[in-house]
Amino acid sequence: MKLFKGLLSITLAASLSMAADYVIKFSHVVSPNTPKGKAANYFAKRVEELSHGKIKVKVYPNAQLCGDKVVLRKMKFNAVQMAAPSFSKFTGLVPQLALFDLPFLFNDADHLHKVLDGEVGQKLLDMVNKKGYVALAYWDNGFKQLTDSKRPLIKPEDAKGLKFRVMSSKVLIEQFKALDAIPVVLPFSEVYSALQQGVVDGQENTISNIYTKKFYEVQKYMTISNHGYLGYMVVMSKKFWNKLPADMKKVIKQAIKEATAKERVWAKELNDSQFAKIKEYADKTGKLQITHLTKAQRDAWVKKLRSIYPKFYGMIGKDLIQKAIKAGE
Ligand code: LMR
Repeated sequence: MKLFKGLLSITLAASLSMAADYVIKFSHVVSPNTPKGKAANYFAKRVEELSHGKIKVKVYPNAQLCGDKVVLRKMKFNAVQMAAPSFSKFTGLVPQLALFDLPFLFNDADHLHKVLDGEVGQKLLDMVNKKGYVALAYWDNGFKQLTDSKRPLIKPEDAKGLKFRVMSSKVLIEQFKALDAIPVVLPFSEVYSALQQGVVDGQENTISNIYTKKFYEVQKYMTISNHGYLGYMVVMSKKFWNKLPADMKKVIKQAIKEATAKERVWAKELNDSQFAKIKEYADKTGKLQITHLTKAQRDAWVKKLRSIYPKFYGMIGKDLIQKAIKAGE
């Protein structure tokens, strides 16, 4: 009996020492095989290593826990500790983040990174911090492409009358209105079935999201438009952060730094390699027609879509928009 009790207390002590002091639920809506999915898993691994098991990170992909709109609310009362919603999803909270939704704002990824890593990027992180979150980093996805089921989108007029799923963002809604198309706001988890059932005709997203969620299998046309950018802000619940001791805050910062550096590389690699896979599907099955716009064709889209900027001078700030443009000159 004595021996049994002794063994029991040893086992209990061991399991207690193995139990984490802090648990982070990290919720996101995409597949694990995406830049964000991989970085979230890597972050989890590094936090556990660096904290020697004191912090456990449980990653919930594919909107398993909740969607992005709900997550920002849940984080307020620490029901979820971390998320990395796209900028568009923050625009109800910080309308200035719609800057990144402006079509054809960035020349390329270098231009975009200059903005994120510079004064404008810092200003936007500060704005989110003031809203009761701890803004930890920017994570990349990439530029968005258009897909639809009705006709090839070559001229801006080709989108007329078509229904497109958009994320919840005034800029994205206005973008499709400028094309005389019909924007429909839907959560990411509903896009595949909305496309499959014809609730919407098309959508805009990155290659990585189009590939991992198989949108291309329920669409007939894809235009490589690179017309807008989709990226993320990684945020933590302020309530949770405030409970962490200084050494554990250091662990989080270090793990985020490492995950962010890797994430940028994965974003580029995955969007490239997954495009090759979509192309292979298109070539093999003949069920998807991919259009690469010529310079003149692209210019027409640029002209049409940039015309919406003045409508957002008030909401985003003309100054912020001009600073972002200037970073690319
Ligand atoms: C979307 O809703 O299309 C994206 O925000 C999904 C994501 O997180 O990349």
